Amino acid sequence: MGLPTLLERRLVIVTGKGGVGKSTVTAALALLAARAGKRVLVCEVNAQERIAPLLGAPPSGYATRQARPGVHTVNVTPAEAMREYGLQVLHFRTIYEAVFENRVVRRFLRMIPSLPELVMLGKILNEVRAEEHERPRWDLVLVDAPATGHAVQLLRVPSALVGTVPAGPLRRDAEWMEELLVDPDRTAVALVTLPEEMPVNEAIELDGQVRGELGMLRGALFVNAMPDTRFSPEEAVRLAPLAAAAPPLGPAARAGRLYAIHAEQASRHLARARAALDLPTCVLPLLAVPEWGLSAVEAIAAAIAAAPPGSAP
Ligand SMILES: Nc1ncnc2c1ncn2[C@@H]1O[C@H](COP(=O)(O)OP(=O)(O)OP(=O)(O)O)[C@@H](O)[C@H]1O
Ligand SMILES: [Mg+2]
Repeated sequence: MGLPTLLERRLVIVTGKGGVGKSTVTAALALLAARAGKRVLVCEVNAQERIAPLLGAPPSGYATRQARPGVHTVNVTPAEAMREYGLQVLHFRTIYEAVFENRVVRRFLRMIPSLPELVMLGKILNEVRAEEHERPRWDLVLVDAPATGHAVQLLRVPSALVGTVPAGPLRRDAEWMEELLVDPDRTAVALVTLPEEMPVNEAIELDGQVRGELGMLRGALFVNAMPDTRFSPEEAVRLAPLAAAAPPLGPAARAGRLYAIHAEQASRHLARARAALDLPTCVLPLLAVPEWGLSAVEAIAAAIAAAPPGSAP
């Protein structure tokens, strides 16, 4: 039997270059998983909250809130995660307050550069292993991860700590966290890109880091905002001489030509991404919608459902 499909895993981390559609793809995956009967938690990482609004719900902040049936959201921040971690490890609020809210200790904690990442990741991974009534609290935890470099920085913290800190509670935490991240049965990374020069370059580089340095499984590639093919190559050629015609034909022909060139370039970048990444790929349409919200996310979810990663192109 092969590996479980993307949404059958317990933890899916969605990342890619800034602005390529990570939050949109995450929200769409959450809708699809919930529709399949899963209890889903979507975590944002210290973000300007996007997921709940994209699902048509008010922002959840650090509290875990239901955004839609089957989908909860939470925005994980370092301060709140630190507080939760402190309370969990030290158990007693008074001790927490004496230790963590002591000015000297706080200055010391700020000197450990990866501590915010550790506690935020710890909060997220704890949700993956949390149980309620003797079953997992969530069937699927989706992470709307930060863009490329910051995502790698976040995901690298456990392995970096395993290699540097002495045996003890911090090292034990780092160990189980790393174990979960590199387990291909439970965890996968989904890469998102646009069919454009720089986002594809960045996705290729990121893919190398996920495979190499992080040793994590890449489960899928989403190529977002793909323009459809409106003109055959012959038609595109015939648009050129029309560009000089009087309005409205001339401007319409120029707009058509621009679109045809964009679509042609996009298909080259898509082909380049497919060839370089060799991943189950899902191509999502460029949508013409004035307001980016739930209906756009629903349309993207429908496109994923119609041709999920790995189905024939
Ligand atoms: N398929 C699409 N068609 C048209 N526009 C899109 C598409 N996907 C995303 N967009 C546009 O791109 C914007 C950014 O999308 P989104 O917030 O999902 O990206 P992101 O990668 O999460 O960005 P950030 O790096 O800022 O978190 C959306 O608000 C929308 O305007
Ligand atoms: Mg986002």
